[in-house]
Amino acid sequence: MTDKAVPATDKPAANTKNAAVQIRGLSKDFGDGSEKRRVLSDITADVNAGELTLLVGPSGCGKTTLISIIAGILSPTEGDVSLFGTPLASLKGNALVRFRLKKVGFVFQQFNLLPTLTAAENAGLPMAAAGQSRADATKKGLDMLDKLGMAAFVGKLQSQLSGGQQQRVAIARALVHGPQLVVCDEPTSALDAATGRTVMGLLRELAVKPDRVVIVVTHDERVYDFADRVLEMEDGRIVATREGKHQSQKAPHAPATEATPATKPTTATPA
Ligand SMILES: Nc1ncnc2c1ncn2[C@@H]1O[C@H](COP(=O)(O)OP(=O)(O)O)[C@@H](O)[C@H]1O
Ligand SMILES: [Mg+2]
Repeated sequence: MTDKAVPATDKPAANTKNAAVQIRGLSKDFGDGSEKRRVLSDITADVNAGELTLLVGPSGCGKTTLISIIAGILSPTEGDVSLFGTPLASLKGNALVRFRLKKVGFVFQQFNLLPTLTAAENAGLPMAAAGQSRADATKKGLDMLDKLGMAAFVGKLQSQLSGGQQQRVAIARALVHGPQLVVCDEPTSALDAATGRTVMGLLRELAVKPDRVVIVVTHDERVYDFADRVLEMEDGRIVATREGKHQSQKAPHAPATEATPATKPTTATPA
């Protein structure tokens, strides 16, 4: 392990002020009887507010399963996740759906766009789900697509968009309602290097705020530059937690935030 790595089994500081996502004793089994397989094993971890956290690890180690549980899309077999102080297990049925619609933006690996809607309509869906008129929701979708460099494609259907363009529509839809938690499953996989950097920069700019969290699953090493923290998974467990490259670079320019823990005040000035 590197010097920054801490054992994942370390008891996390309970009620850490800026632990926006608290994962406690989380396990997940798929299948029944002799087919039963444990895919996540007793995961305990915190994800800090105001940070972009990467979840990395080999294919099949459980990354998508873990973020699906964090986002309230899948329920755990054991343990629980609290988002911003609310245990997901305390939310039943519609209450969980409403909480998720308001608080969570999810970029699915396969995008999950609706093929009969335009890019702007797809991007505006969370606003429509929150009760806005179709016209207002579409306008919000359009504005978000504009920020992602997609102004020329707002009226296109999924079938008229490249993979990278569809990915940006999926990202716009995840950000449009200003959710406190944004979860992205391999958001740069369909993008070329330059677009990948643009998208990660926009994710930082739009979604990393003192009271917000971004979790990005990735295989893409170029994304490491944008991360505050990296959680490494292996075989259903988090095996190491370390600082990302962004953490060490950001000090001189980072705005002071209330969510930043009261460490020694730094008076760093740009070199
Ligand atoms: N719905 C499911 N039913 C059964 N097995 C599943 C299901 N979803 C995922 N798995 C299995 O769980 C393991 C972890 O999958 P996943 O979370 O998708 O990994 P990753 O995203 O790291 O590639 C894999 O072995 C996968 O085959
Ligand atoms: Mg996956």
